[in-house]
Order: sequence, then structure tokens, then C-alpha cells
Amino acid sequence: MIEISVKAGAAAKQRDDAVILPLLEGRKLSESGKELQQASGKTLSGFLRKFDISGNFGGMRTLYDVEGTFSQRVVLIGAGDEKKLRLEGLRRLASKVARRLDKSGARDVSMYLPELNIKGASLADKVQAVAEGVWLGLYRFDKYQTQKKENKRALRSLTVMIPSRRDLEAAEAALATARSVCSGVNFARDLSNEPGNVCTPEFLGDQAAGLAHNKLNVTVMDKAAIEKAGFTALLAVNQGSAKEPRFIVLEYKGGEKDAAPVALVGKGLTFDAGGISIKPGALMEEMKFDMCGSAAVLGIFKAVSEMNLPVNLLGVIASTENLLGSAAYKPGDVITTYKGLTIEVQNTDAEGRIILSDALAYAAEQKPAEIIDFATLTGACVVALGSQATGLLGTGEKVKKGLKTSGDHTHDRVWELPMYEEYQEQIKSHIADIRNIGGRDAGTITAACFLSRFVDDIPWAHLDIAGTAWDMKGTDISPKGATGAGVRLVVDYLQRACL
Ligand code: BES
Ligand code: ZN
Ligand code: ZN
Repeated sequence: MIEISVKAGAAAKQRDDAVILPLLEGRKLSESGKELQQASGKTLSGFLRKFDISGNFGGMRTLYDVEGTFSQRVVLIGAGDEKKLRLEGLRRLASKVARRLDKSGARDVSMYLPELNIKGASLADKVQAVAEGVWLGLYRFDKYQTQKKENKRALRSLTVMIPSRRDLEAAEAALATARSVCSGVNFARDLSNEPGNVCTPEFLGDQAAGLAHNKLNVTVMDKAAIEKAGFTALLAVNQGSAKEPRFIVLEYKGGEKDAAPVALVGKGLTFDAGGISIKPGALMEEMKFDMCGSAAVLGIFKAVSEMNLPVNLLGVIASTENLLGSAAYKPGDVITTYKGLTIEVQNTDAEGRIILSDALAYAAEQKPAEIIDFATLTGACVVALGSQATGLLGTGEKVKKGLKTSGDHTHDRVWELPMYEEYQEQIKSHIADIRNIGGRDAGTITAACFLSRFVDDIPWAHLDIAGTAWDMKGTDISPKGATGAGVRLVVDYLQRACL
């Protein structure tokens, strides 16, 4: 991640490759822009009149040789209607302009975005959003492109300029938060973008172990340990794979000694071919992303421990491939889970809920204060919500409410689906306690109903990130590939819980 710092000072005084100024609808400059306009003996006004610059959101114009500045160029970035601007707008603007400058070879730049007014946002919120936009937007996963020269990064340092020196301390704290959050998100993206032949259950275990430090204890169970512990549902899904499974437990102790932890549980399918109920070929390669839930959990642990948040966390990840080896589990099989409940397998492609049954039951057994799970669980969730919101379900009203607040604040958004008792009918089995599919209707909900059988009475929120965990089109703040969905959401949630 490039170097970002905060500073207060006039645009005319900066000696950078570029000074970035916002331009509002109607060609209105913000405070620093107006000052520079004065200092430039009106050349800036001249440019504004001469060129076709509107101030529409996202439009950009680079001006060279603006009098009265020491900087090589002034970049105007259209910020649109200030009344409509939100923190997400600020993230997007920061990313757009940072990407453009990086491409055009600028090395050191200063950015006057936090002086824009945003309803309900503090200066710290704005600084955090700007830094997030830059760090998330500039993320790249290009380690396997060995021939591409243009991959070299030009941008080296960026200064986020704030209106008053008095706010420096708050701004620096916000920047530090953004740094930890983005290192968590980008770590999750890195793990998720790795191909399935590299990111195996063993690899995930090693990556988790790499996060350990004095407040963070990590235990990685191999197949023998998993057999001994009795995680039989995980073992059933693993039967078709030549690679060993892993069961990963993380314990972060930043809070009171005996305070019950928040449990974070992740689905870690490093590749999901569907098993014997094999998936169609089109886009099957995207099923390397079926471990994004576990990547989100690891990203959150990385961010939280870097921030040194005063909370206790328990992380539980079940990881395997879902393949079709000769020993693979089959439709019709009945599995006895770690908890003792039995599952009739009617479709081997509904494997996520099966391995999560052991992870959730283990988490619940540790008596956490609440459980949040992350899973690319159902195609039905993509149909329902697309890529704009993560599906939210569960029994914990307080945790769900908190996640909604954090979703709106971070724009890592969630949308709740109901879990009426009647839906439980759909997963009844004639031969076992439950079956692993619930018919065509309400697929995201019946999957959550299945999970609900394993969390006892612990307040629980389930995040179905099937539609949000990766994006092959890419967005302003997330290039093509894994997005790190869920990391900013839950770090913000935990931060609020600490206030
Ligand atoms: N990993 C998939 C869900 C998925 C599909 C996520 C597409 C993102 C994009 C999951 O294991 C799965 O295959 N679920 C099945 C369940 C069905 C058989 C009840 C699905 O959604 O089709
Ligand atoms: Zn599947
Ligand atoms: Zn899956």
C-alpha cells in the first residue's frame, strides 16, 4: 500500500507532482480552490472558463502551469452536488483520481477532498473515507503477470489535506484506522484471488498461523486432529478431495479477561466443483472464491489486531475442497455431524452449510456473546440481491441491527431476509434430522434455517456474501476479483461495540 499522510496547508504552497482540488456542480471551487484562484492571479478562473469542466461527479481535468503554485499540475475532480455527497462518494472520488494520477506517472500528490461538506460526517470520517478510497482503489493482484511492464506503480506518496491544523490528531487517528482496515481488506482479497492450486486448505491454515502474535493465538488442525476432534461433517465433504482439510481456530484477546468473545465463523471452500452433483462448466473457475468467507474472517483478525481493539474474538474456519474423487460423499448419504444431528445429503453442491454445521456447533460450544458467520452460501442470494448487498439473516436482533448501521456507514451493505418458522418445514428429512436442500423456493433462507440448527441459543447473524465477495466487472474502489466484502462491515461493527 502506498504511503499516505495528513497535513494542513494552502494549495499554493505545496510542492507536489499534483494538487487535487474538488470542483462542485456549477463549476464551484471549494475553499482551497478559491484560495488558489486568488494566488493564481485568476489564471485558474481563466482555465475554468476556457475548458469544458462541469463539476459533474467523477469528471476530471488536469491543468498544467497554473500560476501561483509550486506544483507541476492541478487536477480538478468533479464532486457533483455537495448536498448529495456521501462518504461513499468521497471514497470513489479519491480512488478515481488516485488511479488516474498513478497511470499518468505522478509520484507525490496532495488531495484536498476532506474540506467537502458531507451531511452527518465528521472530519475523521472524511479522512478515513478518502484514505480507504485510495488504498482500496489502488489494490492490484498482478503477481502472476510476469511480462506486464505497465504494472509498475508510479504513485509513491499521497497527502490528505485538512482545513485546520487543530484537527491533525483526529485526522491521524482516522488515517491509522483506515490503514488497518484496508490492510485487512486487501489481505482478504489477496487470499481470495489466489488460484485454487495455490490457496488450498493447508495454505489457508498457514496464512492464519502467520497472523499469530502475543494477543492472537492460532490453532490449525490437520486431518488427524480433525478426526480426533470429531468434525465429521467437514470430513464427509472432504472425502472427494485428495487434499487434506483444515479446521482453524483463532483467539484474539484484546478485551477484559473473562468477557465472552464475539465468534466469527467462515466458510473456507478453496474450490467448489459441486461434488457428485457437479456444477455446470460455465464460470466454474469462479468457485475458487468459495473461501471468501474464511478470508473475511482472517482479514478482520488482521485489522482488529493491528488496531489493538479492546475486544475478545473467537475465529473458526472450516476448510476443504468439494471435488468428485472416488471416495466422494454422495446424494443419499447420511452424515452424523459434530453436534450429533444427522443430515441427509440430497445435493453434494450444498456443501457449505454442511461444513459450517461443525464450525458453528464448535463456536456455540465455546459460549461466545454472539456469532457472526460469513459464507458464499447460495446462488439464490445472488439472484435476490445481486452484488449490491450481502444477505443478512439470523436470530440475534441486536447484532443484526448493529450490522445494518455499520453496513450503511461503510457502504459494505447488508439487507435482511426473514427467517419465519414456517421455512424450517422445507428442510425436513424422511430419513435424517434434516436434509441439506430445501427445494427451489427461498434458497438463501432455507440455507440459513439449516445453519440455525447448530448455533443453540447464541445470538447469531449470518452473512451470505455469495453476491458481494467478488466482482468480475470491478468497481471504483475494488478492481476485478475479490472485494473483501464483510471486512469493513464487521471491523466497523466491532469498533462501535468498543465505544
Ligand atoms: N458456493 C455455492 C454458492 C454460490 C454459487 C456462491 C454461485 C456464489 C455464486 C454453494 O456451495 C452452492 O453450490 N449452493 C447451491 C445450493 C443448492 C444446491 C441448494 C446453489 O446455490 O446452487
Ligand atoms: Zn456448492
Ligand atoms: Zn460452495
